[in-house]
Amino acid sequence: MTQNNDVTNIPSPCFVLEEQLLDRNLAIFDRVQTAAPIRIMLALKGFALFHAFPQIRTTLKGASASSLWEARLAAEEFGTEVHIYSPAYRAEDVGEILTYASHMTFNSIGQWEQFRAQVEGSAPHKASIGLRINPEYSPVENPLYNSCQPSTRLGVSAVHLGDTLPAGIDGFLSHNLCESDSFALEKTLANIETLFGRFLPQLKWLNLGGGHLMTRKDYDVNHAIEVLKAFHTRHPHIQLLMEPGSAIVWQTGFLMATVLDLIPTDELTNVMLDVSFTAHMPDCLEMPYKPAIRDAHEPQAGKAVYRMGGSSCLAGDFLGDYSFEQELAIGDRLLFEDMMHYTMVKTSMFNGVVHPSIGALDKDGKFKLWREFSYQDYRSKLG
Ligand SMILES: Cc1ncc(COP(=O)(O)O)c(C=O)c1O
Repeated sequence: MTQNNDVTNIPSPCFVLEEQLLDRNLAIFDRVQTAAPIRIMLALKGFALFHAFPQIRTTLKGASASSLWEARLAAEEFGTEVHIYSPAYRAEDVGEILTYASHMTFNSIGQWEQFRAQVEGSAPHKASIGLRINPEYSPVENPLYNSCQPSTRLGVSAVHLGDTLPAGIDGFLSHNLCESDSFALEKTLANIETLFGRFLPQLKWLNLGGGHLMTRKDYDVNHAIEVLKAFHTRHPHIQLLMEPGSAIVWQTGFLMATVLDLIPTDELTNVMLDVSFTAHMPDCLEMPYKPAIRDAHEPQAGKAVYRMGGSSCLAGDFLGDYSFEQELAIGDRLLFEDMMHYTMVKTSMFNGVVHPSIGALDKDGKFKLWREFSYQDYRSKLG
């Protein structure tokens, strides 16, 4: 978090983007795009807070979408190249998608065959067409995020492609990483060359998907640049692309919450918050992981132990445990760190719990409110 920001006038609960920290991340992607022959896009599935798009667009070359609605948002609010890949397109969406997409990637040969005539007949626009491939390598152990698991439904395996690239295909998309390092990128490219090498001379582009956590402190950016340059030397006709989500907004903002109640038990104190893990920070329960809280640390002998409780009545809507230098009190504000990626795009209004507002701290540390939610937002989702 940037220093000297006044957080007292932020409504609670609230997702807060820190623009200065976003700039710091964008500088890393700028460096990669300058040094390596690659175009980097924002994956809207990870972060779709469109108020931040003007800032992101100063560096990134386009946006990637996974549905008609994301494609429309990308076209309306990002306004540059729109790449779309959906695991399965709905026939009624394809016509409108084609009005937005510069690149359209299919998950199966069957879907490409189903929509080929419509795509090729669409005028005046004709998207460049891709196929998602299965590189048969993923460093990700959790099956929730491993798209190369046995019998995966995501991407075509080399053995099923035969020897001939289906007509009309310009590029491949490979998404097999998640919060991964440059060595996983290197291994991915090696697998693609081994398994799909026979098709590479015919390709115009190769999209390496997301999961490249270039903004994590220990990511070896120089190594990634070397790996990308080496691939380009071997296949100079292929435009390399990448569409990270998490990495763009990694550690660029927080979710502010307020302590509503403190419920002591024999071992610890349950902290009842005005936010919910299941509704507002679902990855904490799904991944799962324990988020950092500003000024909190692991439980320590002699210090009160606090368990963070969400505001829904789901029994498992809690996470912990933490200790603080000072004891907590009702009304205290807590900042859950690194809450920009896969939060706002995944939140729900389960239990009708109050939905966090959305805002930003500008580069001078001044808070601006972008969105507040009301009962009408909750109601309109249901009928
Ligand atoms: C096809 C595709 N591209 C890009 C991404 C973004 O990945 P990340 O946010 O891990 O960078 C995902 C995430 O699931 C994806 O499925």
